[in-house]
Amino acid sequence: MNHFELSGGELACEDVGLTTIAQAVGTPVYVYSTATLERHYTVLRDALVNEGLGDPLIAFAVKSNSNVAVLRTLGNLGAGADTVSEGEIRRALAAGIPGERIVFSGVGKTEGEIAFALTNGVGEINVESEPEMHMASRVAQSLGTRATIAIRVNPDVSAGGHAKISTGKSDNKFGVSFSEAERLYAQASNNAGLKPVGVTCHIGSQITHLAPLEEAFVKMRGLVERLRGEGLAVERLDLGGGLGVPYFNMPTPASPADYAAMIARTMRGLDVQFAFEPGRMICANAGILLSRVQHIHERPEGRKFAVLDAAMNDLIRPAMYDAYHDIRPVKPRAGDPVTYDVVGPICETGDTFTRDRDLPRLAAGDLVAFMSAGAYGAVMSSEYNSRLLVPEVLVNGDRFAVIRPRPTYEDMLAREAMPDWLEA
Ligand code: LLP
Repeated sequence: MNHFELSGGELACEDVGLTTIAQAVGTPVYVYSTATLERHYTVLRDALVNEGLGDPLIAFAVKSNSNVAVLRTLGNLGAGADTVSEGEIRRALAAGIPGERIVFSGVGKTEGEIAFALTNGVGEINVESEPEMHMASRVAQSLGTRATIAIRVNPDVSAGGHAKISTGKSDNKFGVSFSEAERLYAQASNNAGLKPVGVTCHIGSQITHLAPLEEAFVKMRGLVERLRGEGLAVERLDLGGGLGVPYFNMPTPASPADYAAMIARTMRGLDVQFAFEPGRMICANAGILLSRVQHIHERPEGRKFAVLDAAMNDLIRPAMYDAYHDIRPVKPRAGDPVTYDVVGPICETGDTFTRDRDLPRLAAGDLVAFMSAGAYGAVMSSEYNSRLLVPEVLVNGDRFAVIRPRPTYEDMLAREAMPDWLEA
């Protein structure tokens, strides 16, 4: 469920009409709903708690939406943060999320990043390979401490979905095999720079069926039991993220309640602290990209292009993954739908959000909303074609605030420098 509904013929976010935001901030702009963020976090937490899964750590995947105000909204509810860079750790800390609730994942952490994590008390460093484990140990010892680590396992299951976001097959770059995990865990337990606390996996994103997750989780449970059988302490099992969301053109994916019930079933009797790294399921449907129609360009043979002021640099998912986003006019006209290609102004054909989409009739000046754009939207935006980085707005009831302002062209140019041999 989300809080973007028609109210008096106009699409609103909670109690704020999107026209008001467009007038105040301009377009394109991302708009997020506090109520939806809070609801999604709470629904997941309650589902896990109601299934008797203890007091799980829900570490929101910062890569899906890294705005500090969004992170604080979730942190205030008790969320932790799953991070993949020093920048993301800094964002989580700036949002007030304590180090012990921060998880640090990623296949290519640098020594500097590991040192930063250790000095800021990051609670779980997810080690993805043997050399990385040794690096963590070296850095920790040089700082006179121990790195609290979990070993990331690649469970070699196929999660379905888009190949670019599948992570759990053995030919993907993530994690180690089960046998390596056992060997590394035992090694880590005898290493002065390491404190292994658990194991972790993450098999992909936008996973709509529970079967691949269940297959991976059963294998992870087996690993925990084998490690314990060898006398090794395993406190935590981090089951990653990946649960899909409805993008409107597909069967409804498994719900958080189904997900929690499946975990309770596969983990029955296993005494461990669970951790999760959800991103998309919390923030995707909590955000939209609001854009204005610049022109309706009609070819003589009939194809109609709705040219927007948003482009692939603002929302890259359709160009990159052929992703489907529902497009809703803010003030939908009555009458028969019209078939449009919805495109941006960037100079390449890939800057096409959708082809042959039936929409209520559009006209220049109309506002349209790309739904389900709260995850992997603003975070993947760029300045391609020297377009200003897209701003972000957070709504809370009848209030809204700009949480990332639109930069100015002066800001954009000021970041660059002229070498002395080119100075005038
Ligand atoms: N944990 C790890 C280690 C991950 O790699 C990811 C996502 C997550 C958690 C969160 O997954 P989620 O719950 O959001 O599915 N840019 C792509 C998605 C890339 C996902 C990468 N990893 C897209 O726009 O669909």
